[in-house]
Amino acid sequence: MSNPSAHLHIFDHPLIHHKLSYIRDRHTNTRDFRRLLSEIATLMTYEVCRDFVTESAEVETPLERTRVRRIATPITLVPVLRAGLGMTRGVLEMIPEARVGHIGIRRDESTALPVGYYTKLPSDVAAGPVILVDPMLATGGSSDYAITLLREAGCTDVRLVCLVAAPEGVARLAKAHPEVRIYAAALDRELDSNKYIRPGLGDAGDRCYGTG
Ligand code: PRP
Ligand code: URA
Repeated sequence: MSNPSAHLHIFDHPLIHHKLSYIRDRHTNTRDFRRLLSEIATLMTYEVCRDFVTESAEVETPLERTRVRRIATPITLVPVLRAGLGMTRGVLEMIPEARVGHIGIRRDESTALPVGYYTKLPSDVAAGPVILVDPMLATGGSSDYAITLLREAGCTDVRLVCLVAAPEGVARLAKAHPEVRIYAAALDRELDSNKYIRPGLGDAGDRCYGTG
């Protein structure tokens, strides 16, 4: 994994890029888009959890008692609706015990500003790391909104996992939330005049749910 700056981690795993190549392809249908999004989320999760704190425990193997290590705190996965939902199953493949909170945000089509419409988080969400998933980091408005909600709930360890990030979104989060680590499969070139990521993959929510 390359590390262009302290808070941004870009994956260079061949499997992730192979799958991303099909997800970018306009000819990829909804069924395959959803499958690929979930598979990439699974692959990313392994790295995102690398430094989770573990604690010592004791178990009895069939032969004797022994010390083992287990993740010390509850983990919360928070998809940003709608497109982030497409990454949920993939992350849960790796962390089936994670709690799942939801944050609903839509970008206003004329202003590209985030409009929040739903929040449901575990009451002790701040008790452990939060994996915030949203495939697209464009202007950064939606992620900024979601991270602000999580910080207001007391969260100090928030990791944003996206597929494609734009430099504008990365810069915004670095300024507003410098403690948040961003994991992305690709850092794309720019935003266009409609605030879409170029080359990007189009509208992630529409492609995920066949609503385009
Ligand atoms: C998309 C995407 C992000 C947001 C990114 O959601 O899933 O949440 O846009 O853009 P930003 O960084 O400029 O805020 P959208 O608002 O299209 O909602 P949807 O997932 O329900 O389609
Ligand atoms: N939201 C998307 O789904 N795609 C973009 O390129 C930008 C915002």
